[in-house]
Amino acid sequence: MTITIARSSNNEKQTYNTQLEGVTLLTVLNHIKTKIDPTLTYSHSCRSGVCGSCAVVVNGTEVLACEYKPLDGDVVEPMRNMSVIRDLVVDACDVSKFNATAHTWSEGSVSQNVSAHDMESIERQSDCILCSSCMSACPVYAINPDFIGPFALTRTWRYVSDAREEKCGDKIAAVQVNGIWDCTLCGECVPVCPQNIAPAQDIRMLRTKSGVMGYIDPSMANMFAGGLDFGSPAF
Ligand code: FES
Repeated sequence: MTITIARSSNNEKQTYNTQLEGVTLLTVLNHIKTKIDPTLTYSHSCRSGVCGSCAVVVNGTEVLACEYKPLDGDVVEPMRNMSVIRDLVVDACDVSKFNATAHTWSEGSVSQNVSAHDMESIERQSDCILCSSCMSACPVYAINPDFIGPFALTRTWRYVSDAREEKCGDKIAAVQVNGIWDCTLCGECVPVCPQNIAPAQDIRMLRTKSGVMGYIDPSMANMFAGGLDFGSPAF
């Protein structure tokens, strides 16, 4: 199998030949590092799709290296929208900071019974493994580095839809700027999530909840502020 990998040392791609077939990309990377090129650098930890540290881009799509089975001719690159530390290792700290912006944690809970059905509806968002694939695939984050992004917004929805959460209002307020209204709902974040979370759907729900709480899409607000022009009546 031939596999091409982006190298940061010379800003070029390097092609490797291996005899491996039917194994994960992480196994191929380990083979290259131990048998062919010890300078190749990449991240991994759990080797079982749990830690999210091995995410890379293959042929333009985000995958977990420990789960993806590569094909002959694949091109492997680092995650997009993040600075490259070396080869396939990126700095995802900028992405994680949006958790703080969006208050993606419980900030006090009221005593409230939650049904199994309601718990089930917020379990999916809790499955996020912080791989940042959604941020890598996000075209809004690509042009607006302050965009809170799919990963933190989907976690916001997890907490504001939890009946026990005390500070829903604060959380909704925190995602009005560079948040839910900036998303284009393009859905690029959905197919790349290894946990089958659908951030675009959660952002849509956050918009609805924001509307109920009195917030308005700023683009609509600007339209109303300018006044609606229905043209002159024809006589
Ligand atoms: Fe942990 Fe791949 S090594 S998710």
